[in-house]
Amino acid sequence: RIYEDSNKASYYLAKRIALLIQEKTKKGQPAVLGLPTGSSPIKVYENLVHFHKDQGLSFRNVVTFNLDEYYPMVPDSIHSYVRFMNEHLFDHIDIARESIHIPDGTLTKEQVQKYCRTYEQKIEKIGGIDIQLLGIGRTGHVGFNEPGSSINSRTRLIRLDKVTILDAASDFFGEENVPARAITMGVGTILSAKKIYLMAWGEGKAAIIKQTVEGPVTESIPATFLQQHSNCEIVLDQAAASQL
Ligand code: GLP
Repeated sequence: RIYEDSNKASYYLAKRIALLIQEKTKKGQPAVLGLPTGSSPIKVYENLVHFHKDQGLSFRNVVTFNLDEYYPMVPDSIHSYVRFMNEHLFDHIDIARESIHIPDGTLTKEQVQKYCRTYEQKIEKIGGIDIQLLGIGRTGHVGFNEPGSSINSRTRLIRLDKVTILDAASDFFGEENVPARAITMGVGTILSAKKIYLMAWGEGKAAIIKQTVEGPVTESIPATFLQQHSNCEIVLDQAAASQL
């Protein structure tokens, strides 16, 4: 789905999410969202906040699972995804704090494995993710599933790719400050979502989008696994679609 610009595309995505929330609320069921961080979803979240403040959209029935978090990472760091989500979404809507799940970057290595299993179980117990929203990294990662991630991978601790560390360097005021690892939902976790929307804006994403959409399915570009999902939309602005 190609839009003239990321504003229109973001509005479309926010509308899809709002519709799901309304439908589920009517049925008395939770709306379960899988959420990303990064620059790509910012305008989607802005629209959702706007729907809440100006149109009365309630998030009381919404349960969220974030894709990933740097490891190690404390929640009040300016780099933490907890802080990002609070600033861009959660602090501005009426979601219950206990309905928010973000991988915990403060655990010891011994605790992480069990924690990741519990994260998966929580998603399963609530009935799975209804809408998984995704950005894409230049390596073709979704969440932090770097090249080499298998189609069956689940929530786990991973090592970040050099390209990803370089891309994050300016946010962290230098490559050496970027954590080497992260906790991420797996490719298998993502593919278990009922509906997936992958979004990408700008020329910088055009090459990886071409490979994701038109290239062969391969572990070296984990986003290509999305081709095998039966209900996935790729939402682009014209610049990101320019090599298709
Ligand atoms: C990080 C996140 C990804 C995100 C990617 C792209 O690596 N962990 O989930 O998709 O950045 O970020 P941006 O949207 O800023 O291009």
